[in-house]
Amino acid sequence: MATVEALLRDAIDRLRAAGSETPRLDAEVLLANVLGIDRTGVIAHPEAAVGDGAAARYAEAIVRREAGEPVAYVREVKEFMGLAFVADSRALIPRPETERLVELAELEVGSRLLASPRPGGAPPIRVVDVGTGSGTIAVTLAVRLRARGMLDEVEILATDDAPDALDLARENAVGHAVGDRVAFREADLIPGDEWAFDLVLANLPYVRTDAIDDLPVAASFEPRHALDGGADGLDVIRRLLEILPEVLAQRGVALLEIGADQEAGIIAAAAEIPGRWSCAVERDLAGLPRVARVER
Ligand SMILES: C[S@@+](CC[C@H](N)C(=O)[O-])C[C@H]1O[C@@H](n2cnc3c(N)ncnc32)[C@H](O)[C@@H]1O
Repeated sequence: MATVEALLRDAIDRLRAAGSETPRLDAEVLLANVLGIDRTGVIAHPEAAVGDGAAARYAEAIVRREAGEPVAYVREVKEFMGLAFVADSRALIPRPETERLVELAELEVGSRLLASPRPGGAPPIRVVDVGTGSGTIAVTLAVRLRARGMLDEVEILATDDAPDALDLARENAVGHAVGDRVAFREADLIPGDEWAFDLVLANLPYVRTDAIDDLPVAASFEPRHALDGGADGLDVIRRLLEILPEVLAQRGVALLEIGADQEAGIIAAAAEIPGRWSCAVERDLAGLPRVARVER
């Protein structure tokens, strides 16, 4: 029977040769996943024997990672804001950059609920997550609002035009016990019979078409439709901006994730919305432009 140390040594060599920038981390995380233990357990017990079945499953995982498949797809899980999301090729892998958008959304809901005492029977705060993918934004927001006792006063809709992604999002909502608190609908952006949203949230595709082939090989395993934002990366977001006047409530706010080099582009695009609109760009933890805040 092979030991942890021997399996890791072989896997690290192979992943390094295959071009992984993090061969040790990948090898440890994947072995821990196969063994159903924490990565620290793998590191702490190099002498431990690994059964033949687990070693065979590890070999399969390493072959997939050698071919460039992202660790999250091989493990079928990705952590986002402390929550574990099922991740597979049906949707984009949740990115840490999106945490800023969820934080801002939570602050926005909190300030609306706390600013003025809401009379009983007041309508719920309406939120839509456009292009929900694996459900990252809608599900995380619902879980965080539930923890603050605010979820009963909020209605959350999540949309995507990819039915496979919506299936995954539903699974993630059920996995986090908010399957009955988030409504899912297949739609191009927002269904025509839904409007008056207090919050429109979106992490839509924003990679320039000509930049897609330069992304790390791992991105080639993700749906191209989840990445491709057209010539300047803003095609889909621009279409959402165009419908904001119809779908946002009078004092509603849209929070839209953008690429770090798209600050000027989104401000120019928002200036095209008919009427008087403002667009301010919030930075992420790295100090990079990340979330456009668009409102009347
Ligand atoms: C960049 S991914 C983000 C997924 C998820 N919001 C997240 O943050 O992990 C963009 C998502 O938008 C969806 N999408 C692209 N164009 C769309 C459209 N016109 N209407 C609805 N969803 C769209 C894609 O299917 C994909 O799931």
